[in-house]
Amino acid sequence: MRVFRLQVNGDTVEVAAPEHWTLLEVLRYKIGLTGSKQGCDKGDCGACTVLLDGVPTLACLSLAATVETSAITTIEGLLPAHRANGGEGADPVQDAFDRCGALQCGFCQPGMILSAKALLAKNPNPTSQEIKQSLSGNLCRCTGYTQIYEAVVLAAKGEQV
Ligand code: FES
Ligand code: FES
Repeated sequence: MRVFRLQVNGDTVEVAAPEHWTLLEVLRYKIGLTGSKQGCDKGDCGACTVLLDGVPTLACLSLAATVETSAITTIEGLLPAHRANGGEGADPVQDAFDRCGALQCGFCQPGMILSAKALLAKNPNPTSQEIKQSLSGNLCRCTGYTQIYEAVVLAAKGEQV
């Protein structure tokens, strides 16, 4: 065991966990942030995507010990950050996914939304190809992707970054 000191959603969190645990394991099983999903657990599905310093990253392939200096954003952090910035209602990307019905089981949605957030933060007016490229690491077994793509288009129209 060792103590990890992580910067999660704007808070500093100290938590004891086995040295070899991944960020995904620490988030889910020590901190209780279960929004990041444990799908394939080997880098294929993107369900575990979090943002490290704004960059989409697979938490299942990231050792917790290697990310202590990074700002970690999980899906749970989007609404508080939106409200802290003076926003009302839901986070705009989450809201767009909701309005487009861009989910069925919802398992892929946290990773999809965080990939979309990262895209729109650096590129508020993405092309169709750029949207598809940004989501290409996130697999969805339910929706067929059309509504997810439409949600990102909608978010891009209204997203303030
Ligand atoms: S759970 Fe990490 S890529 Fe599938
Ligand atoms: S909505 Fe079920 S995996 Fe995407």
